[in-house]
Amino acid sequence: MGRPRVFVTRQIPPPATQSISSVCEVVVRKGQEPPSKRELIRNLPKFDAVVCLLTDRFDEEVLTAAPALRVISTMSAGFDHIDVKKATENGIYVTNTPGVLTDATADFAWTLLMVAARRIGEAERYVRGRKWRIGWSPTLLLGGAIYGKTLGILGLGRIGAAVAERAKGFNMKIVYHDAVRSSPETERALGVQFVELEELLRTADFVSLHAPLTSETRSLINEDRLKMMKNTSVLINTSRGPIVDEKALAKALRQGWIAAAGLDVYEKEPISPKSPLLRLQNVVLAPHIASATRESRSKMSEIAASNLLALLRGERPPHLVNPEVEQIRPLSQISML
Ligand code: DGY
Repeated sequence: MGRPRVFVTRQIPPPATQSISSVCEVVVRKGQEPPSKRELIRNLPKFDAVVCLLTDRFDEEVLTAAPALRVISTMSAGFDHIDVKKATENGIYVTNTPGVLTDATADFAWTLLMVAARRIGEAERYVRGRKWRIGWSPTLLLGGAIYGKTLGILGLGRIGAAVAERAKGFNMKIVYHDAVRSSPETERALGVQFVELEELLRTADFVSLHAPLTSETRSLINEDRLKMMKNTSVLINTSRGPIVDEKALAKALRQGWIAAAGLDVYEKEPISPKSPLLRLQNVVLAPHIASATRESRSKMSEIAASNLLALLRGERPPHLVNPEVEQIRPLSQISML
């Protein structure tokens, strides 16, 4: 058996490619665009393992076209771009990089929250647009207060919990909803209170989304649920775009059902130039950069490599998405190093 052949779908921060190259044959795909389905189907059969990004779609057709593939190591916490059920059936180990982007993402959710609440995007455009002609004005760009308000967290995983921790400094009441309720110890430590989704939407001044994209969460924040929110409230999404019905959100922002929103993720990325959101002032739009700190991206790359190399050594990796795959293909059959 020669050295394992590894396909890296994009240039990624150095630690991963360096450590993988020391023991594997590595092909790093050139270009910034994600690979097309056709390209994946054409290339993957030549490889034992792949390091991919959240933009690269591994659906049933792609997975079926790659019978030799043993490992998909995604440099992301989310793995909704991979058909994990099919991968498992095919004996492919899927790994991800949670944890190392928690703080960066929680910081960014807070950044969006503050920018949206205090209308910083509009203020910037106002100043740069040379519209600021009168000095201090008692009613200029009034936003909503943050300190002492209620924060609603949807999804109390690692990132949701880190967002809650940061809220303590703002003396906020924190309510949360999750498919699985946290232990009383966790609730006490974070100072959070479990409520049903409807209550969260009706009572929170800020609603921050931290749920994974699944069939249950797709379009969860739809027209009906947006109508439940306070007309002074702010919606923040740093999780996955399709959790929010974007057309309904644009309507909510335009008609004042909610006051503002801060988005890092969209139904389609990049956002369509025709999106009505682009024409609205009361929404802050970022290009999926919540984890984009040098520190966290470098760690994500490191973990993607550790996951992949552990598996190629026949060891359990730090972050395995589908542990049930071991029943289909034991670790000993993955080992190549
Ligand atoms: C992830 O990793 O899933 C984030 O969306 C991007 O860092």
